[in-house]
Amino acid sequence: MDPRRAIRTLYRDLDGYDVTDEEEEIVLRHRSSPLYGEITPGAVARLLEYLQLGPEDALYDLGSGVGKVVVQAAMTHELRAAVGVELVERRFTMAQEALRRARGRGFLKTKDVRFLRGDFMRADLNGATVVYTCSTAFPVPLMLRMAQRLYRYPSIRCLVTVQDLDDNPWFYEDDVLRLDMTWRRRARVYVYRPT
Ligand SMILES: C[S@@+](CC[C@H](N)C(=O)[O-])C[C@H]1O[C@@H](n2cnc3c(N)ncnc32)[C@H](O)[C@@H]1O
Repeated sequence: MDPRRAIRTLYRDLDGYDVTDEEEEIVLRHRSSPLYGEITPGAVARLLEYLQLGPEDALYDLGSGVGKVVVQAAMTHELRAAVGVELVERRFTMAQEALRRARGRGFLKTKDVRFLRGDFMRADLNGATVVYTCSTAFPVPLMLRMAQRLYRYPSIRCLVTVQDLDDNPWFYEDDVLRLDMTWRRRARVYVYRPT
């Protein structure tokens, strides 16, 4: 099945925008942003092609929402792992449900597909090779703390973020892509490599 159609089918009744004020409060307490938005399935396909992921790669989505990036990557690529980390319980639960459906229908090429519920600043990222974060609204200090943290994982070869990083000693900008997001067409997406 075409991955875009598959994503539509799997998520027909799962909506990441549907969270309570209390859940948004939890994100704010983690000095992060509760603003929601998604990269479109067409843009995910382009990004995955650009990244040239192989069976040694483990893709992590930090702030994975309802898990569409992880599920789509796991459907189209045979990876070592595809992992999403999400703070908001309801989004995490929806991601688990979509994953259960995808597995049940035999859609997945990647076997190790997981969602972790919690703060990505505390999550275990051991073995990650490529990290994606749809971070448009994340505060600048959080982005820098994230970059510093990711740098400690020597396996990470690439960080893809929707917000550019201030100059820092850990990652340098390698490329800028233009990809469609739910809130903007052709948004800038930054590709960083460890220094
Ligand atoms: C803009 S959405 C991106 C969703 C998904 N990655 C996509 O591109 O379709 C960002 C997500 O990050 C989550 N988030 C924000 N801060 C977080 C944190 N510190 N730890 C884990 N998730 C976080 C939010 O709850 C939200 O679901």
